[in-house]
Amino acid sequence: IGPDVIDIRKLYGQTGKFTYDPGFLSTASCNSTITYIDGDKGELLYRGYPIEQLAVNCDYLDTCYLLLYGELPNTEQRGTFHSRVINHTMVNEQMQFFLRGFRRDAHPMAVLTGLVGALSAFYHDSTDINNPEHREIAAIRLIAKMPTLVAMAYKYTVGQPYIYPKNDLSYAGNFMRMMFATPCEEYKVNPVIERALDRIFILHADHEQNASTSTVRLCGSSGTNPFAAIAAGVACLWGPSHGGANEACLNMLGDIQKMGGVAKVGEFMSQVKDKNSGVKLMGFGHRVYKNYDPRAKLMRETCHEVLGELGLHNDPLFKLAMELEKIALEDDYFVARKLYPNVDFYSGIVQRAIGIPVSLFTAIFALARTVGWIAQLNEMIADPEYKIGRPRQLFVGAEKRDVKPLAER
Ligand code: ACO
Repeated sequence: IGPDVIDIRKLYGQTGKFTYDPGFLSTASCNSTITYIDGDKGELLYRGYPIEQLAVNCDYLDTCYLLLYGELPNTEQRGTFHSRVINHTMVNEQMQFFLRGFRRDAHPMAVLTGLVGALSAFYHDSTDINNPEHREIAAIRLIAKMPTLVAMAYKYTVGQPYIYPKNDLSYAGNFMRMMFATPCEEYKVNPVIERALDRIFILHADHEQNASTSTVRLCGSSGTNPFAAIAAGVACLWGPSHGGANEACLNMLGDIQKMGGVAKVGEFMSQVKDKNSGVKLMGFGHRVYKNYDPRAKLMRETCHEVLGELGLHNDPLFKLAMELEKIALEDDYFVARKLYPNVDFYSGIVQRAIGIPVSLFTAIFALARTVGWIAQLNEMIADPEYKIGRPRQLFVGAEKRDVKPLAER
């Protein structure tokens, strides 16, 4: 189904034609070579590589390299890229003062939006979006500093001292240590959890022209600096219809658990199917996937691994999620609308098991998606056809009229 082509001459005497496609259901905004989704097959490729192979054979930084430069790194490129990233994991000490201005109970996504935007105030040598060298160093800085910023936002909330990066650890291991270590105890990274977290990062690294990526492109198209454009992506991701769904999904599972758990799944599903209830099955449905989201499959496997490692096989929320999935996949409502679990359905259960608080889930998503946003921004700026993004509107408001004096209104 194509978008409506509106003849705007019928409207207020303007000239020309444009498409009317609210929500961009059928409008491509760009050419891209980065990520391919086949929504009917449930296939996801980064630069041509299936997500299933990347999740098993590569780590997150390999994936970052692939998304940024188009090819997987060889051994030498890998080493150089890793060293460049770990060189930039620290953030300016002044950021701590900025962070202190927030209430301790502020939502981490509110804090992260501010912190990421604030980076542009510190790195004046990487704010010219049209300069490829500036963009490259901004990319490395953002990938390197996101884990530090997310962990700082968390430590601030719980009132614990910040833990500085330890660069002989892996990207995921370093993040775990910054999150969970305290200055008085030795912290040992659990390799199973480290690998699971790295996989979460890989699965969230890019997803073509979703809402936050389109936001980053649109924001960057005005020529603003890369940090500001990524901060816009963080803000967009926060919404429950997008990245915020992982938090919303876990809260939903918690609510069903409180209602009585598995026994109440049928009752909950009736609410979901009642259009007047406003209740959705969070973590289900996707604009592009009309089949099982391949990331959800990998996430479900990761869930088994992590819960097994931590001795949480009988986790009630995991059982509940499996039951909801089973019922939904056999229910006419979901079958007719091709609604399947998306990446957020199981990711919250894994993160909760690892010890990440629910309110931080979307910030972890933002951390991982940063590389995708930057790769998409680079692609847009390097495209000779790139222009400032400027959608048109179908004006349906008042016709031209005169302002009446206050006494006559
Ligand atoms: N629960 C119940 N019904 C649903 C759900 C759901 N999760 N998702 C879609 N539907 C229904 C809609 O009500 C609609 O029904 P109708 O045809 O009878 O009106 C139909 O399925 C089509 O849904 P749309 O909302 O038109 O699909 P759209 O592509 O606009 O929305 C979205 C996709 C926002 C992801 C939606 O499925 C949703 O809100 N899901 C829950 C939130 C979620 O999990 N978001 C994460 C997405 S993945 C990500 O961003 C990382």
